[in-house]
Formats: sequence, C-alpha cells, structure tokens
Amino acid sequence: MRKILIDTDTASDDAVALIMALRSPLVEVVAITVVAGNVAVDQGVNNALYTAELCRSDVPIYRGADKPLFRELEPAHWFHGMDGMGDHGYAPSQRKVEAMHAVEAIVEAAMANPGLVVITLGPLTNLALALEREPRIVANISRCVVMGGAACTEGNVTPAAEFNIWVDPEAARKVFLSGLPIQMVGWELSRHAAVLNASDIAEILALKTPLAEFAIECNSSGAVAYEKQTGEHGISLPDPIAMAVLLHPELVLETSAHFVEIETQSTLTRGMTVVDRLNVSDDGRNEGVWNEALARAKKVEICWKLDVPGWKRGIKEALV
Ligand code: BDR
Ligand code: CA
Repeated sequence: MRKILIDTDTASDDAVALIMALRSPLVEVVAITVVAGNVAVDQGVNNALYTAELCRSDVPIYRGADKPLFRELEPAHWFHGMDGMGDHGYAPSQRKVEAMHAVEAIVEAAMANPGLVVITLGPLTNLALALEREPRIVANISRCVVMGGAACTEGNVTPAAEFNIWVDPEAARKVFLSGLPIQMVGWELSRHAAVLNASDIAEILALKTPLAEFAIECNSSGAVAYEKQTGEHGISLPDPIAMAVLLHPELVLETSAHFVEIETQSTLTRGMTVVDRLNVSDDGRNEGVWNEALARAKKVEICWKLDVPGWKRGIKEALV
C-alpha cells in the first residue's frame, strides 16, 4: 500500500479530499499536516480533526505554519465561510492535535518512509519549511502532487494566480525549485464539466450516508461563491480532484513535463505559475530569468486534461 502524507489548509473541499484518502484501500495516510491558508491554522486543525473523526480515522494530525513565509495571511473566508466549512456549526472534535510541529512531522515521515508520496492541498509554507530544515527529504519523496496554480490560464484569486500559490508565492517557489518530482493539478481542472452539477449532487445525497451529506453541506458557501465568480452552477472541488489524481493516476488523460517558475515580485502577477509550455526557457533570450529553474528544478508534470466521468465515479464511491 502506498504511504502518503497530506498537507492541507482544511476547509470544505480539502475535507472531501481527506475523506477520499482516509477511506481509500489504495493508500495509507501516515500524517495530515495543516497549514494556514483558507482559514487560520487552528481552525484548519479543528476542521481536519472533525473530518478524520467522521471517517473514524486516528491518523495523526499536526499543526503547522500560522502564516506565509514573508507575508500576512489573507484567508479565503469569502469563499469557504468564516469557519472554512460553510458555517454550519460543526461541533468541535473530541480528537486532539499532536504535539509535534507539522514541519517536523513532514521531515520525520519522509525520512522514515523512503518513497513517500506527498500531496499539498494548501499554500506550500509547511513543505518549504520542511525542505529548508532537511533538504534530504527530496530524495525520499517519490511523488509530490500539488493542487495549485493555473497552467497557462486564468487564476481564481487574481486574473493571474490561483489561491494556494498566491497566498505564499515565496514558499511555492522554494518547493518548485527544490528538485521534488511535482505533478501539478491546476485550478482549471476543477471547472466546467468537472463541477458537480445538480444531478451529481442529487446522486450523492441519495447515498444517504453521513459522509455524503457532510461533503455536500460543507461546500454550500463555496458553491455560492463559485457561481458568483464564474457563472458556473454547482460544486467545484479542486482538492478532491488532486486527490483523485493521486489515487488514480490514469484519470489524467493529457500530461507533459515543463519547467515552471513562480512570480514573487510583481503585484500584478503575484503567484502566477509560469509554465514553459514550448520549452524555450533554455534559449539565450531567457538567460538569467530561468537559470535557477534550469539548474535546480525538475520539470513539473502538468495535468492538462482529466477523465471527468472517471473522477465523478471515484468521488461517489468514496462517499458511500
Ligand atoms: C484551492 O484554494 C482553496 O480555497 C481550496 O481549498 C483549494 O485548495 C483552490 O484554488
Ligand atoms: Ca485547500
């Protein structure tokens, strides 16, 4: 069974991704590490504990960074609600967070489990700090699925950037230049046909399980915000799509590898994931700007196209 570690800024779509992993027979979740992002880190920890308890899982959950590396946290209450879970008043979990810091937990898990698969569902602050603490973890992580960025497309928080990268672009840049084998699942994969539409939602609710009801209910605020933002009706689930890709790599129908740079300086394009789609970064014209990526990074596997019916089958199976 593959061992995985999930780093998350647990809000509504993260919670569904956690359910998918915790209920999957394909993976063993060795740790959940929480980072500030959608909500303050303590709220994210509470949301992760609540979700794990709902899955009857005793996976250890660790509290991580409470703010981005060099910036103040700008949470996404406007999308996920004040508690990140659509403000339905979920009772505090009986479970307790671990005493160890999330950054330590990432290092420990990677060093103890060569071949570990990591998935990030939030800003990359915890992982950047872990790489700084123990650079040898790069060699032990066999795959790093990043829900983040918007490959050659528009962003969801600014025209240029997706939330997870925009919140902490400096951390994202550290991770993308670290040499980790990254698979990037951008925000665009969760749009259009991949959105859970009225009939998908009805099908899920008809399962009549606590997990199915919770998955739909906690995304209520996200559904309203998403429609306001895009005009698309339904529930868009970026983190569960990244988790589906981790669990079932064959869901990715088109992929290619490219260097990716993260914009950290500009105010207009802060957090943009600049994908070298035509592989021109080693042209003389780009000398200087792309040198660090060329020297230190691995090309990132960009997911361009998703098997949408396959993804929808998978999420329905996870909520039974
Ligand atoms: C990402 O941002 C967050 O709001 C979601 O949880 C997801 O990780 C999508 O841009
Ligand atoms: Ca998230």
